[in-house]
Amino acid sequence: MSDNTAIIQVETLTRRFGTFTAVDQVSFQVERGEVFGFVGSNGSGKSTTIRMLCGLLAPTEGTARVAGLDIRAEAAQISSHLGYMSQKVSLYGALTAQENALFFGGLYSLPVARIAERQRMLFPRLGLTGREHMLVRELPSGIKQRLALACSLLHDPAVIFLDEPTAGVDLINRQVFWDLIRELAAEGKTLFVTSHYLDEMEHAQHIGFIDRGKLIGFDSPLGLKVHFAGGYRLRLLHDEPQVLATAAASLRTAGYRVEPGDNGEVCVLLADGSRANLEQLRRRLHALNPTLDGTAALPSIEEVFAGMIRQHQPTQEHKA
Ligand SMILES: Nc1ncnc2c1ncn2[C@@H]1O[C@H](COP(=O)(O)OP(=O)(O)O)[C@@H](O)[C@H]1O
Ligand SMILES: [Mg+2]
Repeated sequence: MSDNTAIIQVETLTRRFGTFTAVDQVSFQVERGEVFGFVGSNGSGKSTTIRMLCGLLAPTEGTARVAGLDIRAEAAQISSHLGYMSQKVSLYGALTAQENALFFGGLYSLPVARIAERQRMLFPRLGLTGREHMLVRELPSGIKQRLALACSLLHDPAVIFLDEPTAGVDLINRQVFWDLIRELAAEGKTLFVTSHYLDEMEHAQHIGFIDRGKLIGFDSPLGLKVHFAGGYRLRLLHDEPQVLATAAASLRTAGYRVEPGDNGEVCVLLADGSRANLEQLRRRLHALNPTLDGTAALPSIEEVFAGMIRQHQPTQEHKA
Protein backbone atom coordinates (compact mmCIF):
# COMPACT_ATOMS: atom_id res chain seq x y z
CA MET A 1 0.00 0.00 0.00
CA SER A 2 1.43 3.34 -1.03
CA ASP A 3 -0.47 5.83 1.08
CA ASN A 4 0.28 5.60 4.78
CA THR A 5 -2.35 8.16 5.84
CA ALA A 6 -5.10 5.70 4.88
CA ILE A 7 -6.81 4.34 7.99
CA ILE A 8 -8.64 1.64 6.02
CA GLN A 9 -6.65 -0.21 3.37
CA VAL A 10 -8.53 -2.92 1.52
CA GLU A 11 -6.56 -5.23 -0.75
CA THR A 12 -8.25 -7.72 -3.15
CA LEU A 13 -10.69 -8.60 -0.40
CA THR A 14 -12.81 -11.59 -1.37
CA ARG A 15 -15.46 -13.67 0.39
CA ARG A 16 -17.11 -16.73 -1.01
CA PHE A 17 -20.03 -18.64 0.49
CA GLY A 18 -19.71 -22.08 -1.09
CA THR A 19 -19.36 -21.42 -4.81
CA PHE A 20 -21.03 -17.99 -4.58
CA THR A 21 -18.71 -14.97 -4.48
CA ALA A 22 -20.33 -12.29 -2.33
CA VAL A 23 -17.29 -9.93 -2.33
CA ASP A 24 -14.95 -10.16 -5.31
CA GLN A 25 -11.38 -8.77 -5.29
CA VAL A 26 -12.31 -5.45 -3.75
CA SER A 27 -9.49 -2.90 -3.21
CA PHE A 28 -9.70 0.70 -2.01
CA GLN A 29 -8.49 3.04 0.73
CA VAL A 30 -10.20 5.41 3.13
CA GLU A 31 -8.35 8.38 4.62
CA ARG A 32 -8.47 9.29 8.28
CA GLY A 33 -11.20 11.82 9.13
CA GLU A 34 -13.31 11.26 6.07
CA VAL A 35 -16.84 10.09 5.46
CA PHE A 36 -16.74 7.18 3.05
CA GLY A 37 -20.01 6.18 1.39
CA PHE A 38 -20.39 2.56 0.34
CA VAL A 39 -23.24 2.15 -2.10
CA GLY A 40 -24.82 -0.79 -3.89
CA SER A 41 -28.15 -2.52 -4.41
CA ASN A 42 -29.46 -5.15 -2.02
CA GLY A 43 -27.24 -8.21 -1.93
CA SER A 44 -24.30 -6.51 -3.64
CA GLY A 45 -21.90 -7.32 -0.77
CA LYS A 46 -21.86 -4.21 1.45
CA SER A 47 -22.61 -5.87 4.79
CA THR A 48 -20.30 -8.80 4.02
CA THR A 49 -17.45 -6.33 3.34
CA ILE A 50 -18.17 -4.46 6.59
CA ARG A 51 -18.30 -7.69 8.61
CA MET A 52 -14.87 -8.64 7.25
CA LEU A 53 -13.44 -5.18 7.99
CA CYS A 54 -14.76 -5.41 11.55
CA GLY A 55 -13.01 -8.75 12.07
CA LEU A 56 -16.33 -10.60 12.38
CA LEU A 57 -16.02 -12.68 9.22
CA ALA A 58 -12.82 -14.15 7.76
CA PRO A 59 -11.97 -13.24 4.16
CA THR A 60 -11.58 -16.09 1.66
CA GLU A 61 -8.82 -14.15 -0.12
CA GLY A 62 -7.12 -10.80 0.20
CA THR A 63 -6.90 -8.76 3.35
CA ALA A 64 -7.30 -5.31 4.84
CA ARG A 65 -5.85 -3.12 7.54
CA VAL A 66 -8.16 -1.08 9.73
CA ALA A 67 -6.69 1.44 12.19
CA GLY A 68 -3.28 -0.15 11.67
CA LEU A 69 -4.46 -3.71 12.41
CA ASP A 70 -4.58 -6.64 10.03
CA ILE A 71 -8.14 -7.98 9.87
CA ARG A 72 -6.86 -11.56 9.58
CA ALA A 73 -3.99 -11.69 12.04
CA GLU A 74 -5.34 -9.17 14.54
CA ALA A 75 -9.09 -9.73 14.27
CA ALA A 76 -9.45 -10.09 18.03
CA GLN A 77 -7.95 -6.66 18.80
CA ILE A 78 -9.82 -4.78 16.06
CA SER A 79 -13.14 -4.36 17.85
CA SER A 80 -11.66 -2.11 20.52
CA HIS A 81 -10.59 0.38 17.80
CA LEU A 82 -13.80 0.52 15.86
CA GLY A 83 -17.46 1.20 16.31
CA TYR A 84 -19.96 -0.93 14.42
CA MET A 85 -23.63 -0.21 13.97
CA SER A 86 -25.06 -3.24 12.22
CA GLN A 87 -27.83 -3.10 9.67
CA LYS A 88 -30.36 -4.58 12.07
CA VAL A 89 -30.23 -2.40 15.16
CA SER A 90 -29.04 -4.74 17.84
CA LEU A 91 -30.35 -2.81 20.86
CA TYR A 92 -32.38 -4.60 23.51
CA GLY A 93 -35.99 -3.45 23.34
CA ALA A 94 -36.85 -4.65 26.85
CA LEU A 95 -33.99 -2.63 28.39
CA THR A 96 -33.88 1.13 28.90
CA ALA A 97 -31.58 3.39 26.90
CA GLN A 98 -29.17 3.61 29.83
CA GLU A 99 -29.20 -0.16 30.41
CA ASN A 100 -28.34 -0.66 26.74
CA ALA A 101 -25.38 1.71 27.13
CA LEU A 102 -24.22 -0.27 30.16
CA PHE A 103 -24.56 -3.53 28.27
CA PHE A 104 -22.65 -2.36 25.17
CA GLY A 105 -20.01 -0.57 27.23
CA GLY A 106 -19.52 -3.86 29.08
CA LEU A 107 -18.94 -5.64 25.76
CA TYR A 108 -15.99 -3.28 25.25
CA SER A 109 -14.82 -4.03 28.81
CA LEU A 110 -15.31 -0.42 29.89
CA PRO A 111 -15.59 0.21 33.65
CA VAL A 112 -19.06 1.36 34.76
CA ALA A 113 -17.74 4.79 35.76
CA ARG A 114 -16.25 5.28 32.30
CA ILE A 115 -19.54 4.24 30.64
CA ALA A 116 -21.41 6.77 32.80
CA GLU A 117 -18.90 9.47 31.87
CA ARG A 118 -19.19 8.69 28.13
CA GLN A 119 -22.98 8.58 28.42
CA ARG A 120 -23.01 12.05 30.04
CA MET A 121 -20.99 13.28 27.08
CA LEU A 122 -22.78 11.44 24.27
CA PHE A 123 -26.46 11.49 25.28
CA PRO A 124 -26.92 15.29 25.23
CA ARG A 125 -24.96 15.54 22.03
CA LEU A 126 -27.05 12.92 20.28
CA GLY A 127 -30.35 14.35 21.50
CA LEU A 128 -30.96 11.52 23.97
CA THR A 129 -31.27 13.55 27.17
CA GLY A 130 -34.48 12.68 28.99
CA ARG A 131 -34.70 9.26 27.30
CA GLU A 132 -32.27 7.49 29.65
CA HIS A 133 -34.96 5.55 31.48
CA MET A 134 -37.28 4.84 28.58
CA LEU A 135 -37.58 1.32 27.22
CA VAL A 136 -35.90 1.09 23.84
CA ARG A 137 -38.93 -0.56 22.23
CA GLU A 138 -40.91 2.59 23.05
CA LEU A 139 -38.47 4.94 21.35
CA PRO A 140 -39.20 6.32 17.86
CA SER A 141 -36.93 4.86 15.14
CA GLY A 142 -34.91 8.07 14.70
CA ILE A 143 -34.04 8.13 18.42
CA LYS A 144 -33.29 4.41 18.43
CA GLN A 145 -30.76 4.91 15.62
CA ARG A 146 -29.05 7.69 17.59
CA LEU A 147 -28.93 5.49 20.69
CA ALA A 148 -27.34 2.72 18.60
CA LEU A 149 -24.78 5.28 17.40
CA ALA A 150 -24.13 6.37 21.00
CA CYS A 151 -23.57 2.71 21.98
CA SER A 152 -21.07 2.26 19.13
CA LEU A 153 -19.16 5.38 20.30
CA LEU A 154 -18.82 4.50 24.01
CA HIS A 155 -15.22 3.29 23.70
CA ASP A 156 -14.28 6.33 21.57
CA PRO A 157 -13.23 4.37 18.46
CA ALA A 158 -11.17 5.88 15.62
CA VAL A 159 -13.22 4.23 12.86
CA ILE A 160 -16.99 3.83 12.85
CA PHE A 161 -18.86 1.49 10.50
CA LEU A 162 -22.50 2.37 10.02
CA ASP A 163 -24.44 -0.18 7.98
CA GLU A 164 -27.58 1.50 6.62
CA PRO A 165 -27.97 3.65 9.73
CA THR A 166 -30.81 5.73 8.30
CA ALA A 167 -32.95 2.93 6.86
CA GLY A 168 -36.56 3.49 7.88
CA VAL A 169 -35.77 6.85 9.50
CA ASP A 170 -37.79 9.93 8.52
CA LEU A 171 -36.24 12.78 6.57
CA ILE A 172 -35.72 15.17 9.50
CA ASN A 173 -34.05 12.50 11.62
CA ARG A 174 -31.93 11.45 8.66
CA GLN A 175 -30.69 15.02 8.40
CA VAL A 176 -29.96 15.18 12.14
CA PHE A 177 -28.09 11.90 11.86
CA TRP A 178 -25.98 13.12 8.94
CA ASP A 179 -25.13 16.32 10.81
CA LEU A 180 -23.73 14.07 13.57
CA ILE A 181 -21.78 11.99 11.05
CA ARG A 182 -20.19 15.13 9.59
CA GLU A 183 -19.38 16.49 13.08
CA LEU A 184 -17.65 13.25 14.05
CA ALA A 185 -15.59 13.34 10.84
CA ALA A 186 -14.64 16.97 11.53
CA GLU A 187 -13.24 15.76 14.87
CA GLY A 188 -11.00 13.28 13.05
CA LYS A 189 -13.14 10.13 13.23
CA THR A 190 -13.39 8.04 10.08
CA LEU A 191 -16.91 7.03 9.11
CA PHE A 192 -17.72 4.19 6.77
CA VAL A 193 -21.40 4.48 5.89
CA THR A 194 -23.68 2.45 3.66
CA SER A 195 -27.04 3.79 2.61
CA HIS A 196 -29.93 3.13 0.30
CA TYR A 197 -30.62 6.83 0.09
CA LEU A 198 -28.16 7.90 -2.58
CA ASP A 199 -28.81 11.61 -2.02
CA GLU A 200 -27.16 11.23 1.40
CA MET A 201 -23.90 10.31 -0.30
CA GLU A 202 -23.46 13.90 -1.45
CA HIS A 203 -22.05 14.34 2.10
CA ALA A 204 -19.30 11.75 1.59
CA GLN A 205 -15.73 12.68 0.64
CA HIS A 206 -15.43 9.49 -1.38
CA ILE A 207 -17.95 6.97 -2.62
CA GLY A 208 -17.40 3.34 -3.54
CA PHE A 209 -20.02 1.63 -5.70
CA ILE A 210 -20.30 -2.12 -5.37
CA ASP A 211 -22.27 -4.27 -7.80
CA ARG A 212 -22.56 -8.07 -7.45
CA GLY A 213 -19.48 -8.13 -5.23
CA LYS A 214 -17.28 -6.00 -7.49
CA LEU A 215 -16.19 -2.44 -6.87
CA ILE A 216 -17.31 -0.70 -10.07
CA GLY A 217 -16.58 2.90 -9.10
CA PHE A 218 -14.56 4.81 -6.54
CA ASP A 219 -14.12 8.58 -6.50
CA SER A 220 -15.28 11.81 -4.92
CA PRO A 221 -18.93 12.73 -5.65
CA LEU A 222 -17.75 15.37 -8.12
CA GLY A 223 -15.30 13.01 -9.81
CA LEU A 224 -18.04 10.41 -10.24
CA LYS A 225 -20.42 12.94 -11.75
CA VAL A 226 -17.84 14.13 -14.25
CA HIS A 227 -16.68 10.66 -15.25
CA PHE A 228 -19.77 8.50 -15.13
CA ALA A 229 -22.94 10.46 -15.67
CA GLY A 230 -22.25 12.12 -18.98
CA GLY A 231 -21.65 15.64 -17.72
CA TYR A 232 -24.16 18.43 -17.18
CA ARG A 233 -27.90 18.73 -17.32
CA LEU A 234 -29.46 21.97 -18.39
CA ARG A 235 -32.98 22.35 -16.99
CA LEU A 236 -35.36 24.51 -18.99
CA LEU A 237 -38.38 25.99 -17.27
CA HIS A 238 -41.14 28.03 -18.81
CA ASP A 239 -44.67 29.04 -17.82
CA GLU A 240 -46.04 27.92 -21.17
CA PRO A 241 -45.72 24.16 -21.76
CA GLN A 242 -46.07 24.74 -25.52
CA VAL A 243 -42.85 26.80 -25.57
CA LEU A 244 -41.02 23.94 -23.83
CA ALA A 245 -42.47 21.32 -26.20
CA THR A 246 -41.40 23.33 -29.26
CA ALA A 247 -37.92 23.87 -27.80
CA ALA A 248 -37.57 20.16 -26.97
CA ALA A 249 -38.51 19.14 -30.53
CA SER A 250 -36.17 21.65 -32.08
CA LEU A 251 -33.24 20.67 -29.83
CA ARG A 252 -33.79 16.99 -30.63
CA THR A 253 -33.71 17.77 -34.35
CA ALA A 254 -30.43 19.59 -33.75
CA GLY A 255 -28.99 16.39 -32.24
CA TYR A 256 -29.25 17.18 -28.51
CA ARG A 257 -30.30 14.52 -25.99
CA VAL A 258 -33.49 15.79 -24.40
CA GLU A 259 -35.44 14.19 -21.55
CA PRO A 260 -38.49 15.21 -19.54
CA GLY A 261 -37.61 16.40 -16.03
CA ASP A 262 -39.38 15.67 -12.73
CA ASN A 263 -41.39 18.88 -12.51
CA GLY A 264 -42.58 19.28 -16.07
CA GLU A 265 -39.32 20.86 -17.15
CA VAL A 266 -37.19 19.85 -20.08
CA CYS A 267 -33.66 18.54 -19.46
CA VAL A 268 -30.93 18.83 -22.05
CA LEU A 269 -28.06 16.43 -21.37
CA LEU A 270 -24.62 17.69 -22.30
CA ALA A 271 -21.81 15.16 -22.40
CA ASP A 272 -19.41 18.08 -22.48
CA GLY A 273 -20.33 20.92 -20.13
CA SER A 274 -17.59 23.20 -21.44
CA ARG A 275 -18.23 26.91 -21.62
CA ALA A 276 -18.24 26.83 -25.44
CA ASN A 277 -20.90 24.12 -25.49
CA LEU A 278 -23.10 25.82 -22.92
CA GLU A 279 -22.78 29.13 -24.77
CA GLN A 280 -23.75 27.53 -28.08
CA LEU A 281 -26.83 26.00 -26.45
CA ARG A 282 -27.75 29.28 -24.79
CA ARG A 283 -27.61 31.09 -28.16
CA ARG A 284 -29.78 28.41 -29.74
CA LEU A 285 -32.36 28.75 -26.96
CA HIS A 286 -32.39 32.51 -27.28
CA ALA A 287 -32.97 32.22 -31.04
CA LEU A 288 -35.88 29.83 -30.40
CA ASN A 289 -37.52 32.06 -27.84
CA PRO A 290 -35.88 34.99 -26.01
CA THR A 291 -37.86 34.19 -22.83
CA LEU A 292 -36.37 30.68 -22.62
CA ASP A 293 -33.66 30.18 -20.09
CA GLY A 294 -32.16 27.30 -18.17
CA THR A 295 -30.01 26.36 -15.21
CA ALA A 296 -27.08 24.01 -15.63
CA ALA A 297 -26.42 21.48 -12.89
CA LEU A 298 -24.35 18.39 -12.30
CA PRO A 299 -26.23 15.09 -12.15
CA SER A 300 -27.26 13.62 -8.81
CA ILE A 301 -25.49 10.63 -7.25
CA GLU A 302 -28.60 8.62 -8.14
CA GLU A 303 -28.13 9.44 -11.81
CA VAL A 304 -24.43 8.49 -11.53
CA PHE A 305 -25.33 5.13 -10.00
CA ALA A 306 -28.01 4.42 -12.61
CA GLY A 307 -25.52 5.23 -15.39
CA MET A 308 -22.84 3.06 -13.84
CA ILE A 309 -25.15 0.07 -13.42
CA ARG A 310 -26.29 0.46 -17.05
CA GLN A 311 -22.66 0.38 -18.20
CA HIS A 312 -22.04 -2.82 -16.30
CA GLN A 313 -25.24 -4.62 -17.25
CA PRO A 314 -26.05 -3.45 -20.78
CA THR A 315 -28.65 -6.16 -21.38
CA GLN A 316 -30.70 -5.70 -18.22
CA GLU A 317 -33.20 -3.10 -17.15
CA HIS A 318 -32.43 -1.50 -13.79
CA LYS A 319 -34.27 0.71 -11.40
CA ALA A 320 -32.37 3.81 -10.39
N1 LIG B 1 -23.62 -16.19 5.66
C1 LIG B 1 -23.97 -16.21 4.36
N2 LIG B 1 -24.13 -17.37 3.70
C2 LIG B 1 -24.47 -17.39 2.38
N3 LIG B 1 -24.67 -16.30 1.65
C3 LIG B 1 -24.52 -15.10 2.25
C4 LIG B 1 -24.16 -14.99 3.64
N4 LIG B 1 -24.09 -13.67 3.96
C5 LIG B 1 -24.40 -13.01 2.83
N5 LIG B 1 -24.65 -13.85 1.81
C6 LIG B 1 -25.00 -13.47 0.43
O1 LIG B 1 -24.00 -12.60 -0.04
C7 LIG B 1 -24.58 -11.58 -0.85
C8 LIG B 1 -24.19 -10.23 -0.30
O2 LIG B 1 -24.89 -10.00 0.92
P1 LIG B 1 -24.73 -8.68 1.76
O3 LIG B 1 -23.28 -8.43 1.96
O4 LIG B 1 -25.58 -8.80 2.96
O5 LIG B 1 -25.30 -7.59 0.75
P2 LIG B 1 -25.78 -6.08 1.04
O6 LIG B 1 -25.38 -5.72 2.42
O7 LIG B 1 -25.10 -5.28 -0.02
O8 LIG B 1 -27.27 -6.08 0.84
C9 LIG B 1 -26.06 -11.85 -0.87
O9 LIG B 1 -26.38 -12.56 -2.03
C10 LIG B 1 -26.29 -12.70 0.37
O10 LIG B 1 -27.38 -13.54 0.20
MG1 LIG C 1 -26.51 -5.05 3.96
